[in-house]
Amino acid sequence: MHSTVLDRVIPETCVSAAVAAPSIHNTQPWRFRLDAESATLQVRAAPERGLRHTDPAGRALHLSAGASLLNLRVAIAHCGWSPVRRLLPSPEDPALLAVVRVAGAAGRPTGHRTDLYEAIWRRHSSRLPFSGRPLPPQLRSELGEAARVEGARLWFPDPVETARLLRLTAEAERRNRIDADRAAESNRWVHHDRRPTPDVGLPQAVLGPQDSRERLPLRDFTAQRHTERLIAQLFEVAPTIAVLITEHDRRADWLRAGQALQHVWLLATAHGLRASLLHQALEWPDLRRSLSPTPGRTGHAQMLIRLGYGPEGAASPRRAARAVLEEAQASC
Ligand SMILES: Cc1cc2nc3c(=O)[nH]c(=O)nc-3n(C[C@H](O)[C@H](O)[C@H](O)COP(=O)(O)O)c2cc1C
Repeated sequence: MHSTVLDRVIPETCVSAAVAAPSIHNTQPWRFRLDAESATLQVRAAPERGLRHTDPAGRALHLSAGASLLNLRVAIAHCGWSPVRRLLPSPEDPALLAVVRVAGAAGRPTGHRTDLYEAIWRRHSSRLPFSGRPLPPQLRSELGEAARVEGARLWFPDPVETARLLRLTAEAERRNRIDADRAAESNRWVHHDRRPTPDVGLPQAVLGPQDSRERLPLRDFTAQRHTERLIAQLFEVAPTIAVLITEHDRRADWLRAGQALQHVWLLATAHGLRASLLHQALEWPDLRRSLSPTPGRTGHAQMLIRLGYGPEGAASPRRAARAVLEEAQASC
């Protein structure tokens, strides 16, 4: 493959797509390294963008990087190449999370629908109230299949179990609000990439309404209770929550969970669904254990995904592709 083609298309199309992925607190904890000679792209952790208090083990960082890896694979396939990926290829280099080789056009099936690429640009977290329209069973199965091909499972709990998971999330939200370190961390990242621009205030996407009945504990990134944002406006009475589960709980499983999260989210977007995430209970080990599937089911909960029909969320800022892409040093 001609390296100048890679030099141009990878940053413009593929890394831009990777950067559009969701990440915890919008930290974007990734960087990419292109070796045009070998047509490989490294996905690397940016540990200085990790959350020391909220995510000490780096699980959420891996989920975020996994989501950006999925976007990268979809974009490479969109450009007519085959993405061949290896997770954690080098034990001596722990920041190297994945390598993707951009193989020729031979077109091995990627397991992705072609309209997922368009969905990359339309997907935003929507923390606004959804209508009560239920998800068709066929769509639930398709979303489950999207998680499965990435090595995870998607579980749709019944209303009683959903209410229990939301109570655990509300407890986590309460703890996050009174934990000074986590609250400061959240506040800092909401503003982080806006400097040195004068503070224009928190984006609407983050300062949306909150459920005054506190049944749907959306994350309050300011870690304060803004009473003016508690609205009587009805959030959906019976929220649809899907739990993303992996069999094991190692770094490779976290990267798989991130890819599954993003595959599910892009497919949901292609079907006109909106989503937002409820990760708070996963940030407290005791609450996370309680979230994990009930007896008789195995696995580790990695994410709670709220799905439904409703208004589109607003776009949030991203670092430019060129700012997160390094050229590999030529080896002699
Ligand atoms: C691991 C992880 C955890 C997240 N946790 C939450 C959460 O608890 N609540 C929430 O509203 N959004 C959560 N998000 C979504 C991010 O806040 C969001 O992706 C980021 O702000 C960028 O916005 P966008 O999704 O609209 O592109 C999480 C994302 C990831 C990848």
